[in-house]
Amino acid sequence: MLHHARVSTGPLTGRLRVPGDKSISHRAVLFAAMAEGTSELTGVLDSADVRSTLGAVETLGAQVTHERAGDDSLSASVTGWGSAGPVSPISPVECGNSGTTARLLMGALAGWPVVATLVGDESLSRRPMARVIDPLSAMGAEFTSREGCLPVTVQGAVSPVPLDYDSPVASAQVKTAVLLAGLRADGRTVVREPAPSRDHTELMLPHFGVAVGRDEATNAAWVQGPAALSATDVAVPADPSSAAFLVVAALIVPGSAITLDDVALNPTRTGFLRVLHRMGADIDVDVHEGAGAELTGTIVVRHTPALTATVVTVEEIPSLVDEVPILAVAAARAAGVTRFEGVGELRVKESDRLEAIRSALEAMGVDVSVDGDTLEITGRPDAPLASARVDSLGDHRLAMAWSVAGLVSDDEVEVERFEAVDVSYPGFRDALLLLGAG
Ligand code: S3P
Repeated sequence: MLHHARVSTGPLTGRLRVPGDKSISHRAVLFAAMAEGTSELTGVLDSADVRSTLGAVETLGAQVTHERAGDDSLSASVTGWGSAGPVSPISPVECGNSGTTARLLMGALAGWPVVATLVGDESLSRRPMARVIDPLSAMGAEFTSREGCLPVTVQGAVSPVPLDYDSPVASAQVKTAVLLAGLRADGRTVVREPAPSRDHTELMLPHFGVAVGRDEATNAAWVQGPAALSATDVAVPADPSSAAFLVVAALIVPGSAITLDDVALNPTRTGFLRVLHRMGADIDVDVHEGAGAELTGTIVVRHTPALTATVVTVEEIPSLVDEVPILAVAAARAAGVTRFEGVGELRVKESDRLEAIRSALEAMGVDVSVDGDTLEITGRPDAPLASARVDSLGDHRLAMAWSVAGLVSDDEVEVERFEAVDVSYPGFRDALLLLGAG
């Protein structure tokens, strides 16, 4: 599908709630599937990625019913496999485009005496799985893979051993996989990371009755096994990563003023807001008191004509790893050179996002350089971006970032394979139209 994002005929104005958080939705569904009893989940993101997790846990023996509850949202009832454990499925477990589904499942299966083969689409089948296979193998699970990529067959360990793991990457998917396997081991499983990654797992497991130890000084999290999950109810807040596209759109389109409600404001996810504040963005964040473990609140954004460049450091990257493409669009409109340091992980996301950012923004007339793991963008606040035809590469975040760029182009940006947005934000185009984008 070809999407034309035109220079906006008017400002973006109004108020909305973006759909449920993808990371929290995956975890709510998977933890409910692992738990004893029936969990009621609301506000679950209805997107291709979360449907992959819903389908996968059903294949593995959880009972799932769900119904649409408004745009892009599901209410789901999940009865977990609990102490009976997952079943060995006859057919492969389809993970689609979703790295979170594949990597978290490997951890959830690693401590049960089952055999399962995980498969994914072309993009997912290129992404590295050794980062989870290695520590889970050290815990006793056995894997066969196509050179560290999907398809991966996991044979879980009958008696998994606990692990003390220094992860070479700051990755919430790796951390979660190891902790989930650790629930079945006899003793303490610890994961330490080079920088703090998103902590939804640490916040949600206690809600399912499992204590999680943490040490912020060493970016460590641990569980004491064996430990079993019990069913609970989860209300999923709106996704800050989806909100980020609308936030940047409102910042760069003259006259805009929008309000986004009930957004998850977990600090491990809101690095993009801190970076935009440093760039001078007119954004107010109102954190709601007394919500659950996950902070939530309202974001108010107004057009900011004088954005300025900044430096994004390697320590900050995990807190905004999915927002680099849209921050790159903001940087293209900011005075000066914005530098993103230590963004090598972008090469192994749904596409090679580093190369994709360079080629798409260059096609729009922006000066971009990539040197090792450093990305630099020279912004021009006054000149519109050049019209261009760019390919999403089937990557949802690129499809949305280039659509936003089109709102400040001299005519239009055509986005090929726009339908990739279905992975995390199927209603993205409708949201832009609702807010008044041309
Ligand atoms: C995710 C973690 C991040 C992120 C992905 C979702 C998660 O990946 O890029 O979109 O839900 O745990 P890594 O932490 O593996 O980098």
